[in-house]
Amino acid sequence: MNNLQNTLQGKLLIYGATGYTGTLIVHEAARRGLDFEIAGRSEDKLSALAAELNVPYHVFAVDDIEGWKKSLMGKTALLNIAGPFSETAGQAMDVAIQFKVHYFDITAEVDIYRLAESKDAAAKAAGIMLLSGAGLFATYDPLVVHTAKRVKNPVAMKAAFKYSGGFTPGSVASASNIINAGLLVRKNGKIEKITEAPSAAFDLGDGPEDFSLMPLGGVVLSFKSTGIPDIEEYFKMAGTPDADGTLNFEEGHSTAGQVPERSKILIEVTGEDGTVVRSMVDTTDGYMPTVTSAVELVQRALNGSYETGFQSPGSAYGAELLTSLSDVNITDF
Ligand SMILES: NC(=O)c1ccc[n+]([C@@H]2O[C@H](COP(=O)([O-])OP(=O)(O)OC[C@H]3O[C@@H](n4cnc5c(N)ncnc54)[C@H](OP(=O)(O)O)[C@@H]3O)[C@@H](O)[C@H]2O)c1
Repeated sequence: MNNLQNTLQGKLLIYGATGYTGTLIVHEAARRGLDFEIAGRSEDKLSALAAELNVPYHVFAVDDIEGWKKSLMGKTALLNIAGPFSETAGQAMDVAIQFKVHYFDITAEVDIYRLAESKDAAAKAAGIMLLSGAGLFATYDPLVVHTAKRVKNPVAMKAAFKYSGGFTPGSVASASNIINAGLLVRKNGKIEKITEAPSAAFDLGDGPEDFSLMPLGGVVLSFKSTGIPDIEEYFKMAGTPDADGTLNFEEGHSTAGQVPERSKILIEVTGEDGTVVRSMVDTTDGYMPTVTSAVELVQRALNGSYETGFQSPGSAYGAELLTSLSDVNITDF
Protein backbone atom coordinates (compact mmCIF):
# COMPACT_ATOMS: atom_id res chain seq x y z
CA MET A 1 0.00 0.00 0.00
CA ASN A 2 1.43 3.39 -0.90
CA ASN A 3 1.16 6.64 1.07
CA LEU A 4 -1.69 7.88 -1.08
CA GLN A 5 -3.85 4.91 -0.18
CA ASN A 6 -3.07 5.41 3.51
CA THR A 7 -4.41 8.95 3.42
CA LEU A 8 -7.58 8.22 1.42
CA GLN A 9 -10.70 8.28 3.53
CA GLY A 10 -13.70 7.74 1.27
CA LYS A 11 -15.04 5.20 -1.19
CA LEU A 12 -16.16 6.06 -4.71
CA LEU A 13 -18.77 4.70 -7.13
CA ILE A 14 -18.11 5.32 -10.84
CA TYR A 15 -21.31 5.04 -12.92
CA GLY A 16 -20.99 4.73 -16.73
CA ALA A 17 -17.55 3.23 -16.21
CA THR A 18 -17.37 1.22 -19.43
CA GLY A 19 -17.50 3.97 -22.07
CA TYR A 20 -14.40 5.40 -23.75
CA THR A 21 -13.81 8.07 -21.10
CA GLY A 22 -15.05 5.88 -18.25
CA THR A 23 -12.52 3.18 -19.05
CA LEU A 24 -9.69 5.73 -19.02
CA ILE A 25 -11.00 7.20 -15.75
CA VAL A 26 -11.20 3.86 -13.91
CA HIS A 27 -7.62 3.08 -14.93
CA GLU A 28 -6.51 6.52 -13.63
CA ALA A 29 -8.45 5.92 -10.38
CA ALA A 30 -6.73 2.55 -9.99
CA ARG A 31 -3.33 4.08 -10.77
CA ARG A 32 -3.88 6.60 -7.96
CA GLY A 33 -4.96 3.90 -5.52
CA LEU A 34 -8.55 5.12 -5.04
CA ASP A 35 -10.98 2.77 -3.30
CA PHE A 36 -13.76 2.46 -5.89
CA GLU A 37 -16.46 0.25 -7.38
CA ILE A 38 -17.91 0.50 -10.89
CA ALA A 39 -21.46 0.53 -12.19
CA GLY A 40 -23.50 0.90 -15.36
CA ARG A 41 -26.21 -0.74 -17.42
CA SER A 42 -24.21 -3.28 -19.49
CA GLU A 43 -23.30 -6.45 -17.58
CA ASP A 44 -20.88 -7.91 -20.14
CA LYS A 45 -18.72 -4.79 -20.35
CA LEU A 46 -18.82 -4.23 -16.57
CA SER A 47 -17.86 -7.78 -15.64
CA ALA A 48 -14.88 -7.72 -18.00
CA LEU A 49 -13.63 -4.36 -16.70
CA ALA A 50 -14.22 -5.35 -13.06
CA ALA A 51 -12.25 -8.57 -13.56
CA GLU A 52 -9.38 -6.66 -15.17
CA LEU A 53 -9.20 -4.17 -12.27
CA ASN A 54 -10.26 -6.56 -9.52
CA VAL A 55 -13.04 -4.25 -8.26
CA PRO A 56 -16.71 -4.97 -7.40
CA TYR A 57 -19.33 -4.00 -10.00
CA HIS A 58 -23.07 -3.21 -10.00
CA VAL A 59 -25.45 -3.53 -12.95
CA PHE A 60 -28.56 -1.34 -12.96
CA ALA A 61 -30.40 1.23 -15.05
CA VAL A 62 -30.10 4.87 -14.09
CA ASP A 63 -33.69 5.06 -12.78
CA ASP A 64 -33.36 1.92 -10.57
CA ILE A 65 -33.42 3.31 -7.01
CA GLU A 66 -32.69 -0.08 -5.40
CA GLY A 67 -29.62 -0.39 -7.61
CA TRP A 68 -28.39 3.01 -6.48
CA LYS A 69 -29.18 2.28 -2.83
CA LYS A 70 -27.14 -0.93 -2.79
CA SER A 71 -24.23 0.44 -4.78
CA LEU A 72 -23.98 3.76 -2.89
CA MET A 73 -23.99 2.12 0.53
CA GLY A 74 -20.75 3.06 2.32
CA LYS A 75 -19.66 5.43 -0.47
CA THR A 76 -18.50 9.03 -0.06
CA ALA A 77 -18.81 10.15 -3.68
CA LEU A 78 -20.44 9.29 -7.00
CA LEU A 79 -18.70 10.05 -10.31
CA ASN A 80 -21.19 9.90 -13.18
CA ILE A 81 -19.63 9.42 -16.62
CA ALA A 82 -22.74 8.08 -18.39
CA GLY A 83 -23.51 10.58 -21.14
CA PRO A 84 -25.45 12.11 -22.74
CA PHE A 85 -26.09 13.52 -19.28
CA SER A 86 -29.58 14.69 -20.20
CA GLU A 87 -30.44 10.97 -19.76
CA THR A 88 -28.59 10.35 -16.49
CA ALA A 89 -27.64 13.44 -14.47
CA GLY A 90 -31.06 14.30 -13.01
CA GLN A 91 -31.51 10.82 -11.54
CA ALA A 92 -27.88 10.57 -10.41
CA MET A 93 -27.94 13.98 -8.69
CA ASP A 94 -31.17 13.08 -6.89
CA VAL A 95 -29.79 9.80 -5.53
CA ALA A 96 -26.58 11.57 -4.48
CA ILE A 97 -28.73 13.96 -2.44
CA GLN A 98 -30.97 11.14 -1.14
CA PHE A 99 -28.09 8.88 -0.06
CA LYS A 100 -25.81 11.78 0.95
CA VAL A 101 -22.78 11.27 -1.29
CA HIS A 102 -20.87 13.98 -3.17
CA TYR A 103 -21.81 14.14 -6.87
CA PHE A 104 -19.44 14.71 -9.80
CA ASP A 105 -19.90 14.42 -13.56
CA ILE A 106 -17.90 15.40 -16.62
CA THR A 107 -20.69 16.92 -18.66
CA ALA A 108 -20.27 19.84 -21.04
CA GLU A 109 -24.07 20.22 -21.37
CA VAL A 110 -24.96 23.68 -20.07
CA ASP A 111 -28.50 22.62 -19.09
CA ILE A 112 -27.02 20.08 -16.68
CA TYR A 113 -25.08 22.86 -14.91
CA ARG A 114 -28.35 24.76 -14.55
CA LEU A 115 -29.95 21.60 -13.18
CA ALA A 116 -27.19 21.25 -10.56
CA GLU A 117 -27.65 24.94 -9.69
CA SER A 118 -31.37 24.34 -9.12
CA LYS A 119 -30.56 21.59 -6.58
CA ASP A 120 -28.22 23.80 -4.51
CA ALA A 121 -30.50 24.05 -1.45
CA ALA A 122 -31.22 20.30 -1.40
CA ALA A 123 -27.50 19.49 -1.71
CA LYS A 124 -26.65 21.91 1.11
CA ALA A 125 -29.35 20.37 3.31
CA ALA A 126 -27.87 16.91 2.60
CA GLY A 127 -24.36 18.20 3.41
CA ILE A 128 -22.98 17.15 0.02
CA MET A 129 -21.26 18.87 -2.92
CA LEU A 130 -22.85 18.83 -6.39
CA LEU A 131 -20.02 19.44 -8.86
CA SER A 132 -21.14 19.07 -12.44
CA GLY A 133 -18.39 19.77 -14.96
CA ALA A 134 -15.28 18.03 -13.58
CA GLY A 135 -13.89 17.62 -17.13
CA LEU A 136 -13.06 20.62 -19.31
CA PHE A 137 -14.17 23.00 -16.57
CA ALA A 138 -11.57 21.70 -14.11
CA THR A 139 -9.10 23.63 -16.28
CA TYR A 140 -11.35 26.35 -17.74
CA ASP A 141 -12.99 27.54 -14.52
CA PRO A 142 -9.89 27.94 -12.28
CA LEU A 143 -8.30 29.74 -15.25
CA VAL A 144 -11.20 32.21 -15.13
CA VAL A 145 -10.65 32.67 -11.38
CA HIS A 146 -6.92 33.19 -12.00
CA THR A 147 -7.52 35.74 -14.80
CA ALA A 148 -10.25 37.62 -12.90
CA LYS A 149 -7.83 38.18 -10.00
CA ARG A 150 -5.55 40.15 -12.34
CA VAL A 151 -7.98 43.11 -12.58
CA LYS A 152 -9.83 45.21 -10.03
CA ASN A 153 -13.54 44.43 -10.05
CA PRO A 154 -13.94 42.24 -13.18
CA VAL A 155 -17.04 43.21 -15.19
CA ALA A 156 -16.84 41.09 -18.36
CA MET A 157 -15.17 37.96 -19.66
CA LYS A 158 -14.79 36.15 -22.95
CA ALA A 159 -13.53 32.59 -23.31
CA ALA A 160 -12.12 31.00 -26.46
CA PHE A 161 -11.69 27.21 -26.43
CA LYS A 162 -9.73 25.59 -29.26
CA TYR A 163 -10.22 21.85 -28.94
CA SER A 164 -7.81 19.40 -30.50
CA GLY A 165 -9.20 15.87 -30.71
CA GLY A 166 -12.13 13.78 -31.81
CA PHE A 167 -15.51 12.91 -30.32
CA THR A 168 -16.94 9.64 -28.97
CA PRO A 169 -20.59 8.65 -29.58
CA GLY A 170 -21.44 9.89 -26.05
CA SER A 171 -19.89 13.26 -26.88
CA VAL A 172 -21.71 13.53 -30.21
CA ALA A 173 -25.02 12.97 -28.39
CA SER A 174 -24.02 15.53 -25.76
CA ALA A 175 -22.97 18.02 -28.44
CA SER A 176 -26.49 18.09 -29.86
CA ASN A 177 -27.77 18.95 -26.35
CA ILE A 178 -25.26 21.81 -26.18
CA ILE A 179 -26.41 23.15 -29.55
CA ASN A 180 -30.10 22.69 -28.68
CA ALA A 181 -29.63 24.76 -25.51
CA GLY A 182 -29.29 27.75 -27.85
CA LEU A 183 -26.90 30.68 -28.00
CA LEU A 184 -26.63 31.54 -24.32
CA VAL A 185 -24.68 34.50 -22.99
CA ARG A 186 -24.77 36.22 -19.62
CA LYS A 187 -25.58 39.93 -19.64
CA ASN A 188 -25.89 42.12 -16.55
CA GLY A 189 -25.86 38.96 -14.43
CA LYS A 190 -28.73 37.21 -16.26
CA ILE A 191 -28.56 34.38 -18.82
CA GLU A 192 -29.99 35.47 -22.18
CA LYS A 193 -30.61 33.53 -25.38
CA ILE A 194 -29.52 35.46 -28.45
CA THR A 195 -30.74 34.71 -31.96
CA GLU A 196 -27.73 35.47 -34.14
CA ALA A 197 -24.37 33.86 -33.47
CA PRO A 198 -21.59 36.44 -33.52
CA SER A 199 -18.08 35.32 -34.37
CA ALA A 200 -15.03 36.86 -32.76
CA ALA A 201 -11.29 36.77 -33.40
CA PHE A 202 -8.87 35.62 -30.71
CA ASP A 203 -5.10 35.14 -30.85
CA LEU A 204 -4.06 31.95 -29.08
CA GLY A 205 -0.47 32.24 -30.23
CA ASP A 206 -0.81 31.67 -33.99
CA GLY A 207 -2.28 35.03 -34.99
CA PRO A 208 -5.95 36.07 -34.92
CA GLU A 209 -8.41 33.23 -35.66
CA ASP A 210 -12.20 33.31 -35.95
CA PHE A 211 -14.22 31.50 -33.27
CA SER A 212 -18.00 30.89 -33.12
CA LEU A 213 -20.17 31.66 -30.12
CA MET A 214 -21.03 28.50 -28.18
CA PRO A 215 -22.33 28.22 -24.59
CA LEU A 216 -19.72 25.91 -23.10
CA GLY A 217 -21.06 26.32 -19.56
CA GLY A 218 -19.05 29.22 -18.18
CA VAL A 219 -22.27 31.24 -18.30
CA VAL A 220 -23.28 29.11 -15.30
CA LEU A 221 -20.07 27.75 -13.76
CA SER A 222 -17.78 30.77 -14.08
CA PHE A 223 -20.57 33.05 -12.93
CA LYS A 224 -20.73 30.82 -9.86
CA SER A 225 -16.97 31.05 -9.27
CA THR A 226 -16.46 34.78 -10.02
CA GLY A 227 -19.82 36.58 -10.26
CA ILE A 228 -18.66 38.28 -13.49
CA PRO A 229 -21.94 39.67 -14.89
CA ASP A 230 -21.15 39.59 -18.65
CA ILE A 231 -19.91 36.29 -20.12
CA GLU A 232 -19.47 35.15 -23.74
CA GLU A 233 -17.93 31.86 -24.83
CA TYR A 234 -16.46 30.86 -28.18
CA PHE A 235 -15.32 27.57 -29.68
CA LYS A 236 -13.21 26.32 -32.56
CA MET A 237 -11.87 22.92 -33.59
CA ALA A 238 -8.09 22.67 -34.04
CA GLY A 239 -6.59 20.85 -36.99
CA THR A 240 -6.07 21.29 -40.68
CA PRO A 241 -9.03 20.17 -42.79
CA ASP A 242 -8.60 17.71 -45.69
CA ALA A 243 -9.05 18.90 -49.27
CA ASP A 244 -12.78 18.12 -48.94
CA GLY A 245 -13.00 20.32 -45.82
CA THR A 246 -13.39 17.56 -43.21
CA LEU A 247 -11.32 17.17 -40.07
CA ASN A 248 -10.12 13.62 -39.44
CA PHE A 249 -9.75 12.30 -35.92
CA GLU A 250 -9.67 8.91 -34.34
CA GLU A 251 -11.99 8.47 -31.36
CA GLY A 252 -10.87 10.99 -28.77
CA HIS A 253 -7.50 11.67 -30.38
CA SER A 254 -5.92 13.46 -33.28
CA THR A 255 -5.33 11.22 -36.29
CA ALA A 256 -2.38 8.87 -35.90
CA GLY A 257 0.68 10.06 -37.76
CA GLN A 258 -0.10 13.76 -37.23
CA VAL A 259 1.73 15.63 -34.49
CA PRO A 260 -1.23 16.41 -32.23
CA GLU A 261 -1.92 20.07 -31.69
CA ARG A 262 -2.52 20.96 -28.03
CA SER A 263 -5.95 22.10 -26.87
CA LYS A 264 -6.00 25.73 -25.70
CA ILE A 265 -8.28 27.89 -23.57
CA LEU A 266 -7.95 31.68 -23.62
CA ILE A 267 -9.74 33.81 -21.01
CA GLU A 268 -10.05 37.57 -21.55
CA VAL A 269 -11.28 39.60 -18.57
CA THR A 270 -12.17 43.31 -18.51
CA GLY A 271 -11.96 45.24 -15.28
CA GLU A 272 -14.24 48.09 -14.22
CA ASP A 273 -11.55 50.63 -15.21
CA GLY A 274 -11.35 49.19 -18.75
CA THR A 275 -8.15 47.19 -18.21
CA VAL A 276 -8.15 44.00 -20.31
CA VAL A 277 -6.02 40.99 -19.28
CA ARG A 278 -5.65 37.61 -20.94
CA SER A 279 -4.53 34.25 -19.58
CA MET A 280 -4.24 31.04 -21.55
CA VAL A 281 -3.62 27.38 -20.87
CA ASP A 282 -2.48 24.75 -23.29
CA THR A 283 -2.89 21.08 -22.52
CA THR A 284 -2.85 17.60 -24.06
CA ASP A 285 -5.16 16.95 -27.00
CA GLY A 286 -8.13 14.57 -26.73
CA TYR A 287 -9.85 13.42 -23.53
CA MET A 288 -6.87 12.86 -21.18
CA PRO A 289 -7.17 16.29 -19.47
CA THR A 290 -10.75 15.35 -18.52
CA VAL A 291 -9.62 11.96 -17.22
CA THR A 292 -6.90 13.30 -14.92
CA SER A 293 -8.88 16.31 -13.71
CA ALA A 294 -12.05 14.33 -12.91
CA VAL A 295 -10.04 11.91 -10.78
CA GLU A 296 -8.14 14.79 -9.12
CA LEU A 297 -11.42 16.49 -8.11
CA VAL A 298 -13.03 13.30 -6.85
CA GLN A 299 -9.92 12.41 -4.89
CA ARG A 300 -10.08 15.78 -3.11
CA ALA A 301 -13.67 15.11 -2.00
CA LEU A 302 -12.77 11.56 -0.89
CA ASN A 303 -10.09 13.14 1.28
CA GLY A 304 -12.61 15.47 2.89
CA SER A 305 -11.97 18.62 0.82
CA TYR A 306 -15.32 19.92 -0.43
CA GLU A 307 -17.87 22.76 -0.19
CA THR A 308 -21.51 21.83 0.22
CA GLY A 309 -24.18 22.70 -2.36
CA PHE A 310 -23.85 23.48 -6.07
CA GLN A 311 -20.21 24.17 -6.91
CA SER A 312 -18.01 24.70 -9.92
CA PRO A 313 -14.37 23.53 -9.94
CA GLY A 314 -13.26 27.14 -9.43
CA SER A 315 -15.75 27.94 -6.66
CA ALA A 316 -14.79 24.81 -4.72
CA TYR A 317 -11.04 24.78 -5.26
CA GLY A 318 -10.03 28.20 -6.68
CA ALA A 319 -7.23 29.05 -9.12
CA GLU A 320 -4.87 26.76 -7.17
CA LEU A 321 -6.51 23.75 -8.83
CA LEU A 322 -4.69 24.59 -12.08
CA THR A 323 -1.31 23.93 -10.53
CA SER A 324 -2.25 20.40 -9.48
CA LEU A 325 -3.38 19.31 -12.97
CA SER A 326 -0.86 17.44 -15.06
CA ASP A 327 0.54 18.85 -18.32
CA VAL A 328 -1.17 22.26 -18.09
CA ASN A 329 0.89 25.36 -19.03
CA ILE A 330 -0.38 28.82 -18.03
CA THR A 331 0.58 32.04 -19.86
CA ASP A 332 -0.47 35.54 -18.76
CA PHE A 333 -0.43 38.42 -21.24
N1 LIG B 1 -16.49 17.93 -20.82
C1 LIG B 1 -15.52 17.10 -21.03
O1 LIG B 1 -14.41 17.47 -20.80
C2 LIG B 1 -15.80 15.69 -21.50
C3 LIG B 1 -14.75 14.89 -21.94
C4 LIG B 1 -15.01 13.57 -22.30
C5 LIG B 1 -16.31 13.09 -22.28
N2 LIG B 1 -17.31 13.93 -21.88
C6 LIG B 1 -18.70 13.45 -21.85
O2 LIG B 1 -18.78 12.25 -21.11
C7 LIG B 1 -19.82 11.43 -21.64
C8 LIG B 1 -19.28 10.03 -21.88
O3 LIG B 1 -18.26 10.10 -22.83
P1 LIG B 1 -17.58 8.79 -23.42
O4 LIG B 1 -16.44 9.26 -24.21
O5 LIG B 1 -17.30 7.81 -22.35
O6 LIG B 1 -18.75 8.25 -24.37
P2 LIG B 1 -19.02 6.76 -24.84
O7 LIG B 1 -17.76 6.03 -25.10
O8 LIG B 1 -20.01 6.88 -25.92
O9 LIG B 1 -19.70 6.05 -23.53
C9 LIG B 1 -20.91 6.47 -22.99
C10 LIG B 1 -21.13 5.72 -21.69
O10 LIG B 1 -22.35 6.19 -21.08
C11 LIG B 1 -23.22 5.08 -20.86
N3 LIG B 1 -24.61 5.53 -21.04
C12 LIG B 1 -25.11 6.30 -22.03
N4 LIG B 1 -26.42 6.52 -21.85
C13 LIG B 1 -26.77 5.85 -20.71
C14 LIG B 1 -27.98 5.67 -20.01
N5 LIG B 1 -29.12 6.22 -20.43
N6 LIG B 1 -27.97 4.93 -18.89
C15 LIG B 1 -26.83 4.36 -18.44
N7 LIG B 1 -25.64 4.47 -19.07
C16 LIG B 1 -25.61 5.21 -20.20
C17 LIG B 1 -22.81 4.05 -21.89
O11 LIG B 1 -23.23 2.78 -21.45
P3 LIG B 1 -23.30 1.51 -22.45
O12 LIG B 1 -21.87 1.11 -22.66
O13 LIG B 1 -24.08 0.54 -21.68
O14 LIG B 1 -23.94 1.99 -23.73
C18 LIG B 1 -21.30 4.22 -21.87
O15 LIG B 1 -20.73 3.56 -20.75
C19 LIG B 1 -20.31 12.14 -22.90
O16 LIG B 1 -21.50 12.84 -22.61
C20 LIG B 1 -19.21 13.12 -23.22
O17 LIG B 1 -19.67 14.28 -23.88
C21 LIG B 1 -17.08 15.21 -21.50
